[in-house]
Amino acid sequence: MHRLKSGIYGLNPLLDGGVNENSTTVVIGRSGAGKTTFATQFIRRGLLGGQEGIFVSLDENKEQIIREAVEMGWSDILDYLDDELLVFIDASGREFSNFIRKELPAFVSEWKGSNARIAIDPLTPVLWSTKDLYEQRDLIGFMLKQTRKVGTVLCTLEEHGATDLSGPETVIPMYLADCVIHLKYNSDDAASSRSLKIVKCRNSRHSQSRHPYQILRGFGIVLEGGEARRPTTAKVPSQLRQMLLTRALPKAVLERLEKSLDGLTDDDFRTLKPDYVLELVLQEYQDA
Ligand SMILES: Nc1ncnc2c1ncn2[C@@H]1O[C@H](COP(=O)(O)OP(=O)(O)OP(=O)(O)O)[C@@H](O)[C@H]1O
Ligand SMILES: [Mg+2]
Repeated sequence: MHRLKSGIYGLNPLLDGGVNENSTTVVIGRSGAGKTTFATQFIRRGLLGGQEGIFVSLDENKEQIIREAVEMGWSDILDYLDDELLVFIDASGREFSNFIRKELPAFVSEWKGSNARIAIDPLTPVLWSTKDLYEQRDLIGFMLKQTRKVGTVLCTLEEHGATDLSGPETVIPMYLADCVIHLKYNSDDAASSRSLKIVKCRNSRHSQSRHPYQILRGFGIVLEGGEARRPTTAKVPSQLRQMLLTRALPKAVLERLEKSLDGLTDDDFRTLKPDYVLELVLQEYQDA
């Protein structure tokens, strides 16, 4: 699986190297969490690496987004726009079902196979364009399928009120996406707090923890220390390997288990202790 550098400082090690090429990622967060910042950072990182960028805005207009990016210290996007390496699709105030089913496929056929990065910010108005959950699923599914033909897709999604992510509005895009990242933002505290968690990521061994982050002018989202800097140890897998070798297990089972341990780290085992895992293995295979 080819992984692309996300552009978010400190995120790639938590995603096993980066974002999978041609995958779809959904970034969920409340207003002010940093969704547009995330999307712009992702697109800009692609541009720096020679990929084209397509920014589909469903809410703010092109001028607003450019102005925010310039204020963030990213005025180089003006050059990418001039060179037509970065394209804006301003779909704010449009009739979304028509936009997705008619205009988007026409655009996609023009750009097909171009290996661009596509940001859709935010996806929420598409969900609000119809009350019918089947139609919502259909529209989002169609949109993701189409845009994936052009490259690697990142959508943002607004989080409203509720403390969990179980409402239909978040569940449909979360289910359809390959990777889901939650930007938790608490602005009620005296000092507002921000943290990021990878909720799921298909085909990746990813961090299970929550990581505090800051938004820094010129840089954008920067994750604070933690796992990104901690060297990954592999004591648990190596102890487990030693223990397995002393047990009478069928040769085929032993070979398979040893192979599974290759490349695993202590982080993968989290709270699982080697003697406990050994016990489970013995229960499962000793009489096989
Ligand atoms: N130029 C800047 N310099 C420093 N920090 C900034 C700058 N611009 C924005 N920020 C910070 O980034 C935060 C997130 O902005 P962003 O627009 O990415 O959030 P969002 O999740 O897209 O919000 P919304 O849902 O309202 O669109 C802002 O609240 C602010 O704290
Ligand atoms: Mg925004």
